Amino acid sequence: MERVVSGIRPTGNLHLGNYMGALRNFVKMQHEHDCFFFIADYHSLTTHPNPTDLHGNVKDALVEYLAAGLDPEKATLYIQSDVPETAELYLLLNMNAYLGELERVTSFKDKIRQQPDNINAGLLTYPVLMAADIIIHKAAKVPVGKDQEQHLEMTRTFARRFNRIYGVEYFPEPEAFNFGQELIRIPGLDGGGKMSKSDNPGSAIFLADEPEVIRKKIMRAVTDEGPKTLNQPKPQAIQNLFDLMQVVSEPDTIAHFDAAFNNCTIRYGDLKKQLAEDMIRFTAPILERIRELRSNDTYLRKVVHTGRDKAVTSARQTIREVREIIGFRGF
Ligand code: TYM
Repeated sequence: MERVVSGIRPTGNLHLGNYMGALRNFVKMQHEHDCFFFIADYHSLTTHPNPTDLHGNVKDALVEYLAAGLDPEKATLYIQSDVPETAELYLLLNMNAYLGELERVTSFKDKIRQQPDNINAGLLTYPVLMAADIIIHKAAKVPVGKDQEQHLEMTRTFARRFNRIYGVEYFPEPEAFNFGQELIRIPGLDGGGKMSKSDNPGSAIFLADEPEVIRKKIMRAVTDEGPKTLNQPKPQAIQNLFDLMQVVSEPDTIAHFDAAFNNCTIRYGDLKKQLAEDMIRFTAPILERIRELRSNDTYLRKVVHTGRDKAVTSARQTIREVREIIGFRGF
């Protein structure tokens, strides 16, 4: 069975992009692979959350992993900071990660723009920690969305470099994975690029959003004054709404609005109402389980402890072998 590892940062509730790009595939993969899925709370420290928010966010993410269908009997589900061996591997990998290559990472350049007052070393070495997360369990596959592609490339670089420096075939080079399909990018509601919590929380539909909230957000989504000529290409903001329909609506519904766009009779208000109802239908079963799980602290505790024990066992073995390879040997 192939090893699979992936994680999501706890920065508030998970959104539809996290679900479609990652979580949904975690749920599918748990049946056929040896899976390790974690909540990346070390990574979330780059934005300096306060302790109460951090704990609440980790709990929300845990509840949402489970509500989406992750089965802790099948997959190992854990919290990143419960496995400090990850931090040791991160330190070791940092010795072979170069400033130039880290500065060139797109997500780092984006963060410099987004948070110019907080360009910390954790942001710079973010891909190294991510590589540590993945290779500590010697993963072969990593289910992620499109925005993580470059980070996976760096993970392969760091794994290959370690093997080369020490003359070993120790770490496999893991691949970003989406069942043989292109990695995906779910757009937001603000007419821009991807759905994102950190860029623009109003543009995101969260799995835990109540129906009324979903309706309001979608009715406020960016559109324009409508098509003027037959069969014109769709502007980005409109294409985004159609892309969201692809996720949650029936093919007939999409075909109907597509035809209406092409013959210039479309009313965006109607499209949004339909999209909102389909979105609510899509997220309803998850929302129901979120409500059930939120108050079940005994169960959540059990899940976290079981996951931690399994993840630590796997990570300790890797660290033991890596220390031996590097030359930290006992006397
Ligand atoms: P994060 O927390 O930003 O996102 C978690 C996962 O959700 C995917 N995603 C999307 N997919 C499609 N469309 C979107 N709009 C969208 N927004 C988010 C991301 O691609 C990701 O798969 N660095 C990671 C967390 C992480 C990790 C890891 C992932 C830490 N260590 C090791 C894999 C393996 C991150 O910040 O993702």
